[in-house]
Order: sequence, then C-alpha cells, then structure tokens
Amino acid sequence: MDRNLALELVRVTEAAALACGRLVGKGDKMAADEAATNAMRRTLDSIEFNGTVVIGEGEMDEAPMLYIGEKVGNGGPTEVDIAVDPLEGTNICAKGMSGSIATIALAPRGGFLHAPDMYMEKIAVGPDAKGAIDINASPTRNLEAVAEAKNCYIEDLTVVILDRPRHDKTVAEIRKAGARIHLITDGDVAPVIAAAFADSGVDMVMGIGGAPEGVLAAAALKCMDGDMQGRLVFMSQEERQRAKGMGITDFDRVYTAEELASGDVVFAATGVTNGDLLQGVRYFSGGAETHSIVMRSRSRTVRTVKTRHHFNYKPIY
Ligand code: FBP
Repeated sequence: MDRNLALELVRVTEAAALACGRLVGKGDKMAADEAATNAMRRTLDSIEFNGTVVIGEGEMDEAPMLYIGEKVGNGGPTEVDIAVDPLEGTNICAKGMSGSIATIALAPRGGFLHAPDMYMEKIAVGPDAKGAIDINASPTRNLEAVAEAKNCYIEDLTVVILDRPRHDKTVAEIRKAGARIHLITDGDVAPVIAAAFADSGVDMVMGIGGAPEGVLAAAALKCMDGDMQGRLVFMSQEERQRAKGMGITDFDRVYTAEELASGDVVFAATGVTNGDLLQGVRYFSGGAETHSIVMRSRSRTVRTVKTRHHFNYKPIY
C-alpha cells in the first residue's frame, strides 16, 4: 500500500466532515449523511487508485453513492478495498451531541470482512490489554482479565457501551463487577479507537452494534496494536441469507481484528462533533478547522492532523 495514500485519506474524511459539519444540530440526519457521502465520494475520485467499496452506505439499490461494489478513485494501479462511514453517528450529528466522525479505511483486495448491514457483538481493548479478552467469557471474567493485564483495579476500568435495552443484563453485570460505565447514545467506532490510547479514559468497548462499524473499528485497532473480537448477530433468516450471499458460511464464527481487517490497512477519521477522540469541526471567519487521525498498520504510525481550511480558496462541497 502506497504510504502517501494515508495522507490522501485525510483529505477524504476532512471533506466529509466539513460538508456535514454545517448541518450539526439541524435535526436532519439524512441530509447530514447525504452531505458527508457526496463530499466523500467526490474527494475519493481525485485520488489515484482503483478502489472498490466493500463496506458502504448500503446495497446498490438502496444507496445512490458509495454503495457496496461501487468503483471509486481515478484509476491508478493500486487496487484496494474500501470501508466507509461518511458520517458515523448520524443522530449525534443531527442533535449536535458529541462523538460523530467521518471515517474510511483501505485494505488490499479481499482484506475486509464483507460484513452485511446487520449487528455484531464486539469486545475491544487497547494494546495494554491485548490477549486478555474473550467474547465467549462473561463480562466479569473479561473485566478481571483486563484489570490484571493493565495492573489496575476493576473499579478503575471504564467500559463504553451503547445505551440500548439489549445491553441491560451486561450493564448490570459490569456494575456488579465494579467497573465504571460510559453509556453512549450512538457511535461505537470512536470509543474503540479511544480505548487504544492509554490516556483516553476508555478501557474497553463491549456490546452489540453495527457490523460495518465493527470492521472499521477493527481496521483502526489493527493500526494501533489493539485487540478486538466480533461475532455477527443474526436477527432473521433473511440476514443469514444476505450474509451467505456475501461469502459468510460459519454464522457463529468469532472474528479477530486481524480477520476483520487483514493486510496493510490504512485508516482515517475526522471529527464532526466534539468527542473523547477528536474535536469537531470549528468554524472561523472565512474557514474552518478540522481535527483528524490517520494511521497505517504496517508502520503503526498514528498521526493526528489539525487542518485550517480557507473557503475562499477551497470551497466546501
Ligand atoms: P448511524 O451512523 O448509521 O446512525 O449508526 C450509528 C450507530 O450508533 C453505530 O455507531 C452503532 O454501531 C449502531 O448505530 C448501533 O445500531 P442501533 O442504533 O440499531 O443500536
């Protein structure tokens, strides 16, 4: 993978964040998602590569742009698969709450699990607890193992989990075990990345969220030497059929981060609204500032990028 592609990717997530940044708090999640998707799509076509969207905005018949199978890029020799979420946390953005990001990851052809738009059970930690998690073990057992790996008390651990009724039992068990909990309304990619930063205040992410988001989070964690396990959660026979059509045969399989995102992976994200990980888009007279992260699995280089954009010289889409 050409390492310059990594920096090109930041332009892509910046463009998406700038486009939907104007719609923060406007109460229209569809419009915000559309703005981010349009901007991401246009910017991708300025990059010299031959990309295929494998995790995108939906199937061809349900998404006009960045649909699964769509070809992007201006046709250079590098063939890559692309996972995108132009606006991760559409509700968060529409309500002006914290934690929405624009995000993308690249892998060599065949590098990403072709995850259908369904649920995935996930457990993720940073490098300091690598090897300590087991999706088949209870939350209590996982907390004990992570506390031991991090050489701290369970009471010092903070677990991020989506605030959903399906997590009531897990939340009760985590509380009983003594760990701290940060319930989030949406957006479980950014907390997984945060877990890989020792000083972020996030130690673990647990629970059931989107499968495509699981693949994106795995791509990021792989670049940071973190650890993650994911298992698809099937809600219907139709979802099983869809998964089969995408090449998934073992419905109970537990995927590691490496299996969700393999090969030389590149990941980038830009903050849309303020979050633990990234600042949101900040406007000033004539422009805006964005805050991004970009990383590569081969070198484990993690860059944070603050960019000043001047609309008179480079209008936003
Ligand atoms: P959108 O950006 O598509 O709105 O998804 C946000 C999100 O919160 C993800 O971060 C998460 O994985 C998933 O939705 C959870 O799904 P649900 O809202 O159905 O529990």
